[in-house]
This record gives sequence, C-alpha cells and structure tokens, in this order.
Amino acid sequence: MAPRTTIRKAPERPHPRPRTALILGLAGLLAATGVTALTGTAQAASTLGAAAAEKGRYFGTAVAANHLGESAYANTLNTEFNSVTPENEMKWDAVEPSRGSFSYGSADQIVNHAQSRGMKVRGHTLVWHSQLPSWVGSLATADLRSAMNNHITQVMTHWKGKIHSWDVVNEAFQDGSSGARRSSPFQDKLGNGFIEEAFRTARAADPAAKLCYNDYNTDGVNAKSNAVYNMVRDFKARGVPIDCVGFQSHFNSASPVPSDYQANLQRFADLGVDVQITELDIEGSGTAQANSYSNVVRACLAVSRCTGITVWGVTDKYSWRASGTPLLFDGNYAKKPAYTAVLTALGGSGGGGGGGGTASCSVTYSKAEEWNDGFNGRVTVTAGSSAITSWTTTVTVTSPQKISATWNGSPTWDSSGNVMTMRPNGNGSLAAGASTSFGFTVMKNGNNSAPVLGSCTAS
Ligand code: G3I
Repeated sequence: MAPRTTIRKAPERPHPRPRTALILGLAGLLAATGVTALTGTAQAASTLGAAAAEKGRYFGTAVAANHLGESAYANTLNTEFNSVTPENEMKWDAVEPSRGSFSYGSADQIVNHAQSRGMKVRGHTLVWHSQLPSWVGSLATADLRSAMNNHITQVMTHWKGKIHSWDVVNEAFQDGSSGARRSSPFQDKLGNGFIEEAFRTARAADPAAKLCYNDYNTDGVNAKSNAVYNMVRDFKARGVPIDCVGFQSHFNSASPVPSDYQANLQRFADLGVDVQITELDIEGSGTAQANSYSNVVRACLAVSRCTGITVWGVTDKYSWRASGTPLLFDGNYAKKPAYTAVLTALGGSGGGGGGGGTASCSVTYSKAEEWNDGFNGRVTVTAGSSAITSWTTTVTVTSPQKISATWNGSPTWDSSGNVMTMRPNGNGSLAAGASTSFGFTVMKNGNNSAPVLGSCTAS
C-alpha cells in the first residue's frame, strides 16, 4: 500500500507555546512549498488497513497471484489492505512439487507486490496434510522427517526476513469431540512429536518470523480448541518455540461466530502467545453479515494480543465459497455493508458504498417468556449504515396493561404511564449494522395485546 499520512491531533502538553511555534513554522514551510495544510484535527482513517494500523493491528487479505493483473483487484488490494497471505502459492504442492525441486515464482509475485507497497506478508503454510504432493506421503519415516525439515528450512530461508508470521503447522487436529490429532503422513509416521519438531526447525530457519499454529473450528471453546489449547500450554511450559495461534474463522449459518469467540481468543493470549484471525469469511449478506463481521473485529480489538485480521479473499467472485458471498467486496468490487461495519468497528469512517453518513437505527419487537398474567418483551435496536452513539424509541402498551420492570435501558414515562420512552443504559454505541436489545415485563391486567413500537431515532 502506498504510504499515507494521517494528521493526528497533537497530544496535550504542559507548555503550549513551543507547539504553537512549531505549527506556525510548519504552516510557513507548507506555504513556501505550495502545499495546502490540512486542518490539525484528528481525521478518521478511511481504509481498512489505515484504520487497523491506528489500532496497532494489520488488516490483510488472502491473495491469488493470477488475479494481480486485474486492475480492480489490484486497486482494491492496494488501497484497503496492509497485509497479504498467498491463498495457495506457498503450499507444499506449489513450492516443492517434486522432492528437492522448489518453485517460488507465483508466491514471489505476491511477496514482491506486497513488499513494494509496504504491506506485510503472512506465510501459509509449511506442514499441512492437504495440498501435499503424493511423493511426500510415500516416504518412509526417516525420509519423511528429513523431507519435512528440509521443506521448512528451504522455504523459510527463501523468504527469510520477509514474512511476519508463518503458519508452521496447519489443521493438525480432528474435528469433533475426540480432541485427537488428525491422521496424515506426518502424524501417522512421525507421531505427535512432528508438530514440535516442525516448530523447532522453523525457529532455526528464520528466527525473526512469528511461528503460528493455525486451525479452523477452534474459534470458540470446544473439544478441538481445548486440544489445541493444551498443546500450546504444553509447548510454552517446555520451551517449544511458538509465538501465535491462528483462528481461521470461516463462518456461516451452520457455524456462526461463537458467543465465546473473544473469551476463546483471550484464553489463548493468556498462555503468552499472540492470536491472529487468519482466514475470516462469513457467508450471508446485508445487516446480519455486517453484524457478524463487526463482532469479530470488536473481539480482536478487545484482546490486546490479537495482532491482526486477514479476510480470506478480496472479492466475493474469487472466494473459495463464492456462492456464499462471504467477503467485504462484492463481485464488482463494491463495498458491502460488511465493509462499512468492519471499517466502523476499526474506528475508521467514510467507507461509503455499504452506507455511511447519517446516524439511523431500526427496532424490532419479540415476545419472550409468557405466563398467566404477564409476559416479557424484547426490543432489538440495530444501527443503520453508520455507527451511532445513542438511540431512542418508544414502547406503548394498551391500558390497563402496565410495564412493571425493564432492563438494559433507561426508561422515562408519559403522564398516562402507558408510553415508555427508552434510551440506552451503557449500550448506546453501536457499530454500523450492530445491534443491542432491551427488555421489559408487561402485566396484562386482562389484556393480551402486543406492545406498539415507535420509530427509532439515533445520534
Ligand atoms: O489452479 C488449479 C487450476 O489450474 C485447475 O484448473 C483447477 C481445477 O480444479 O484447480 C486449480 O486449483 C485449485 C486452487 O484452489 C486454486 O484455485 C484447487 O483445485 C482447489 O482445491 C484450491 O482450493 C483451495 C483450498 O484451500 C484447497 O484446500 C482454495 O483456493 C483455498 O482458498 C483454500 O484455503 C484453505 C486454507 O489454505 C486452509 N484453511 C481452509 C481454507 C479454505 O478451504
């Protein structure tokens, strides 16, 4: 990405005079060189990479070398992202298709593209059961061990100093409740120890690279993530070199963002490793998709050791699951609501496309528990295409009904006591497309009508 300058508000200092002099001096210099000075107020970043950088994180994407020649693809990549992961080009079948014969061309294209624009590169991946050429699987144990170590050493040495984080071992655990390792040539012939051997070899090959274990279906607390957690804890206890854990984060309606996503990231971080969101994509569209993306970004920002987010592709049209439209840009490179939600969650603004501009919100009602003479109602408040800092709506019940309790909001009442105006109680700030809810208990007093909501106003 081209270097960009963000004018920030200068921090408050005890002695304002030197700062004034500095600003006047700078203004004079700019005037003399014919450059117009921007006003000295903080300006929200307007791209994903810049907004993430202001939060001390990177925002990356998977990239396929064969699309770099498409101008809309390259422009979107160059404008929005500051880290790349080759989607397939660094995998074993691509870089060592036959034993000892290495081909780095396609991956080099991506690395060079990134480096010449100041983007970081994630390395993906060194030891994985998939996209593994068949010659590896046919080796006997001793040969396989030396082939694995040689592969790691050669590949990491080729890009030494250019890769910020490597997925050293990918997807080594089984799905489901067993917590067991997945069968693979490495597991079956070298045993459990292959993972730590790979990490030790990787550390020796490029000591500056962060070494990650990367997997999917480990995004919440479950048997598989527990097994990975136990391995990382053991590695840290025994001094096996591991620096980070990658959470792929491929989501859809059958596998939504888990409610304990942030807690799961945090428990790994608490072991003393960085965590990274490495292959994020969320099938869906519109507000629901935007909401999920926003939740993922906010979870990462809430975990200080969550160092960056990578989405698994630039545009829906080239996604590995294109029919699920899981990415931030549609097939025509238009920004989706999910884009705006991510940018907003990162603290940026001005994304446009998916919305932007005026604060707005909407409300929906649903009935929760009900009993003989009462029921609980829940109102969900959803921000429109811009982030909001406050919202207001009304709930009107039919006399002689009475609202006897409320939660997650600050109510005021009209003189009849039937119209409740609800405002936030610590839950006013919502990212674009994000939601909160409040609840209340209605005493029926013989009337079972549903409450009527007023419109939602936001600021
Ligand atoms: O390049 C060939 C092309 O020449 C050939 O005509 C065509 C015919 O099928 O295949 C092309 O290769 C495909 C390659 O993607 C490039 O598009 C492979 O068949 C296809 O299997 C491969 O899929 C990749 C998949 O990993 C393989 O496991 C996806 O692009 C890639 O997004 C996906 O990424 C993985 C991560 O590495 C690990 N985590 C899960 C993630 C999603 O599955």
